[in-house]
Amino acid sequence: MATATYFLCPSPASFKGSEMPIARFRCCSSGSGNSNSVSLNTRTEPRPVTTFVKAFAPATVANLGPGFDFLGCAVDGMGDIVSVRVDPQVHPGEIRISDITGHAPDKLSKNPLWNCAGIAAIEVMKMLSIRSVGLSLSLQKGLPLGSGLGSSAASAAAAAVAVNEMFGKRLSVEDLVVASLKSEEKVSGYHADNVAPSIMGGFVLIQSYEPLQLIELKFPAEKELYFVLVSPEFEAPTKKMRAALPSEIGMAHHVWNCSQAGALVAAVLKGDVVGLGKALSSDKIVEPRRAPLIPGMEAVKKAALQAGAFGCTISGAGPTAVAVIDDEPTGHAIAQHMIQAFLSHGNLKASAKVLQLDRLGARRILD
Ligand code: HSE
Repeated sequence: MATATYFLCPSPASFKGSEMPIARFRCCSSGSGNSNSVSLNTRTEPRPVTTFVKAFAPATVANLGPGFDFLGCAVDGMGDIVSVRVDPQVHPGEIRISDITGHAPDKLSKNPLWNCAGIAAIEVMKMLSIRSVGLSLSLQKGLPLGSGLGSSAASAAAAAVAVNEMFGKRLSVEDLVVASLKSEEKVSGYHADNVAPSIMGGFVLIQSYEPLQLIELKFPAEKELYFVLVSPEFEAPTKKMRAALPSEIGMAHHVWNCSQAGALVAAVLKGDVVGLGKALSSDKIVEPRRAPLIPGMEAVKKAALQAGAFGCTISGAGPTAVAVIDDEPTGHAIAQHMIQAFLSHGNLKASAKVLQLDRLGARRILD
């Protein structure tokens, strides 16, 4: 079967001015076999199965302590929404961001090449070889930027799912993760521990990046698990928080973190929330470098544990702190202690949510 490999190759016209609102792209064949690109049969360009799709993608908690860049999970009730529409006003094969609403819309570019949702949507169009249809995209930011809750990933995941739905759901989950990873790579770093769970739901282990291998970790349906998410009014850009990490680690820390990550995976599969919390709290490599950069974080962790949380760490790159517990009222009580600790030890106001696991991942929603 004839196949071709496609890469994002913006045409020169698409770089005119940083706020140019329309992205153009062309398909480039390559024999290089980049393992993170997608091979598709290019003889057929799919037609849209509908003219409008709205998709939601949930917030995520990445790392889960010792799982830096390879473990993450989706949380219920917070996320971003992307709507895509077939738009005859947009040149075929192009995409335009018509509006951005919700959290900090002015901080986000409407140039699709510099917007997380736009980048992922372009990737999906490219994977599908869409040349005959132009799309308008609208983004509703439900997640604050730079919060440690996978805000950029949720925009990318919702856009990737929306465009794929529009053209008949031809791409696999892995394809959608690869498309969304292009966006993560551009804005924060090449890591799938937000985009994979945002797309797939539940807990996800990224076994490898080249080739991309994802393992869904099923948390038993009958077990209770609550995430206490406390977000201070403080910015912790992922790029900066990644730059703070050591480039090398010692053998003792490697062994410790690997054993804790293994224990965390076992706890998830067994539905053992106490074990999950213990492993979540145990990171000796990333958290010790990042916590001092978030005012009050060390005290917040102590306060959460003293209030009965099974474990606590930084959510993603921060500044949100995440604690786990197995009942909701205790979760709310823990949240109050964590908020108080951010205020008294970090001089930061904070807000809290107590949420459950999102088991569905990014999905189409009704208008
Ligand atoms: N694994 C990434 C990091 C997640 O910790 O930098 C960022 O949300």
